[in-house]
Amino acid sequence: MPDAKRVKTGIKGLDKLMEGGLLEGSVYLLSGNAGAGKTIFSMQFLKEGVANKESVLYISTEEKEDSIRKGFKILGWDLGKSIEIIGLSPDELEDEWESLLSNKIERNKIKRIVLDSISLSTLYYKDDYSVRKYLYKFVSFLKDKKITCLLTSEVPEKQGVLSRGGIEEFVCDGVILLQFLGTGGKYERGLTIRKMRWTSHTLDIHPYRIEKNKGIVLGG
Ligand SMILES: Nc1ncnc2c1ncn2[C@@H]1O[C@H](COP(=O)(O)OP(=O)(O)OP(=O)(O)O)[C@@H](O)[C@H]1O
Ligand SMILES: [Mg+2]
Repeated sequence: MPDAKRVKTGIKGLDKLMEGGLLEGSVYLLSGNAGAGKTIFSMQFLKEGVANKESVLYISTEEKEDSIRKGFKILGWDLGKSIEIIGLSPDELEDEWESLLSNKIERNKIKRIVLDSISLSTLYYKDDYSVRKYLYKFVSFLKDKKITCLLTSEVPEKQGVLSRGGIEEFVCDGVILLQFLGTGGKYERGLTIRKMRWTSHTLDIHPYRIEKNKGIVLGG
């Protein structure tokens, strides 16, 4: 049974929709369409950790550190040295993640990790069993270390899908879904707490915006 301590997401107004936040030491899937705001949400989560004087780590499988830092500067955030960013190639993610992360976690006493994204690693395996085995090992490792994690998950533009592999959502402790909803000739952004183990939460679709300097802002 997880610790009942709640960890704030860094998204204003979101924590009160789920009993005060994420459970410390649990692993969550942040699912969303292309451009839904997964990377921005993730960085807000890490910034909240830094504000609480926690060590945090951002792992990217998509972009290099430089381009991530430059991107966030354009958004109005200077991430500074307090947010460590590493890029992991698909090969490193498959073969070396355990030793690499163990070292970093122990050395820096890391409390929050974002893996942006988990999707690539699930494409590596040929069958569902191998994907599930890998994900289970990865998620168990993070939980054993008592780190609160977000794993971003790319989902195709069709309703009712939470991940590319269709397995990630079952292995994780919760799922937050960022999606585009087509209404009357334009898209709206909507956030749903789709699954949150041991937690009472809303199932409403909450409108949100993305704004310079602020990132994800809940509300119409
Ligand atoms: N200054 C801004 N003002 C308003 N919206 C912005 C601004 N900067 C970025 N955006 C929005 O944020 C989106 C990108 O957010 P983010 O990179 O977090 O999405 P993502 O879900 O990680 O995308 P991907 O699937 O490509 O990784 C852009 O497509 C754009 O809609
Ligand atoms: Mg992204």
